[in-house]
Amino acid sequence: MNSVKHVAIIMDGNGRWGIKNKKSRNLGHKEGLKTVEKIIKSSIKNKIRYLTLYAFSTENWKRPKKEINFLFNLLESFLVNKISELNKQNIKLKIIGKKKFSKKINILLNKSEKQTFKNKKLQINLALNYGSKSELINAFNLIKINKVKINEKNISKYLFTSNIPDPDLLIRTGSTQRLSNFLLWQIAYSEIFFEKKLWPDFNENDYNKIIDKFYNIKRNFGNI
Ligand code: FPP
Repeated sequence: MNSVKHVAIIMDGNGRWGIKNKKSRNLGHKEGLKTVEKIIKSSIKNKIRYLTLYAFSTENWKRPKKEINFLFNLLESFLVNKISELNKQNIKLKIIGKKKFSKKINILLNKSEKQTFKNKKLQINLALNYGSKSELINAFNLIKINKVKINEKNISKYLFTSNIPDPDLLIRTGSTQRLSNFLLWQIAYSEIFFEKKLWPDFNENDYNKIIDKFYNIKRNFGNI
């Protein structure tokens, strides 16, 4: 049976859910945050060590300002209200992506990372202003500056996910089958599950079903 250490998730479908159920994309994001909380709890129950969530991509800046502001206000109130609880639960928060936000958000993100730095139960990697291509370019530039060899070990070392094992499992909700510039280097051997449900409808039961399927996959890593 496989063990699952690291799950990465593309949380897609908030906008469609919001339009369908509340006539507002933003209310879909609000509902999506409830699913985030459920999946964090369920990850702990499943003894998962790393959970990587794609919350805002480098391409998401193209969205209307009103939606971008709503998402960052949601993130701000989530951190202000929940970081102590996450800390008590021994959860570590790490941001992956370039921290180029408002001064207020940058301070809050740094403070939240610092507060939870020593925690060991579950590490949440929150992908914000994250794009895999820009992450790779950044890594190659660091390799050049540090005058080290271009090899697999060094590329992995200079990614935002340095020292984090590659995802065993990638889940994308929302019925679209694409990778959207997410962890392209790190998912070379991940098992990929495309889920029809929109992110706000995804629940612990759906998550457990995927994990159960993953346990029984024969992973060859190129071997036979
Ligand atoms: C993709 O759905 C989702 C996002 C770009 C934002 C994800 C945000 C959350 C789940 C809530 C906030 C999370 C935190 C941690 C504060 P989409 O809007 O592209 O959906 P669509 O394909 O239906 O348009």
